[in-house]
Amino acid sequence: MDLLSKIDKKNTPEHIAIIMDGNGRWAKKQGHMRLHGHNTGVESVREVLKAAKEMKVKYLTLYAFSTENWNRPKEEVDGLMDLLVRTIAGEADELNNSGVRMLAIGDIDGLPGDCNIELRQAMEKTKQNTDINLVLALNYSARSEIISATKQLAEKVNNGELSVDEISDEVFSNHLTTKGIPDPELLIRTSGEHRISNFLLWQIAYSELHFTPVLWPDFKRDDLYKAVIDYQSRERRFGMVSEQISKSI
Ligand code: FPP
Repeated sequence: MDLLSKIDKKNTPEHIAIIMDGNGRWAKKQGHMRLHGHNTGVESVREVLKAAKEMKVKYLTLYAFSTENWNRPKEEVDGLMDLLVRTIAGEADELNNSGVRMLAIGDIDGLPGDCNIELRQAMEKTKQNTDINLVLALNYSARSEIISATKQLAEKVNNGELSVDEISDEVFSNHLTTKGIPDPELLIRTSGEHRISNFLLWQIAYSELHFTPVLWPDFKRDDLYKAVIDYQSRERRFGMVSEQISKSI
């Protein structure tokens, strides 16, 4: 079935965020170590990025490492960091040549030195690109991000730079690590889990949620198309009633 032809090209999300889950279970099913699942998951990242770019999605945010992930066995954490460093270093030129701008959200300074360096170099190298923004959530925690924004605002109020009344949705958003990035219209989680797991809690206030049982290493182009078709079948009301929506179109 040609799923792509079912997509309304004028109504693709500008920003898709993905919780890439199920690498460990995928590897176990094949009788491999968990890291094999993460390695294979990089293939899905490549394919999904390409498909998103072709659909003219402008931001693709991937939850690659949460602050909670530090609690995994040391061998897995080291392997994941190594994979991130190798992938980012190995793909930076290709990303640059294909018009991808790399961005990162989360506590980047809390990453191991080599990961931090590769990431910053890749972001610098690709900063002129405009086709699509690949946003990697690394050492990311939505609650920490919200607390950090709150502290920054409290400090500004304390210093007299800002009044309490000036704190709005927009001002708050501008103190998050996603500053300048539009909120995702669509959030996908793979592997059959129905949780948000401390990802983009502020930014997904109005996002459509798409859950699929597909494990991340099996998630390919057609799975992304299915998620977008599902998104396009929903009516986004933003708290209004249907009649108001049809009038505004
Ligand atoms: C969740 O699966 C996946 C992760 C914590 C890591 C995802 C990272 C990658 C796919 C590498 C991406 C690389 C780049 C450069 C973006 P899990 O381990 O929680 O799976 P499980 O729930 O089956 O145990």
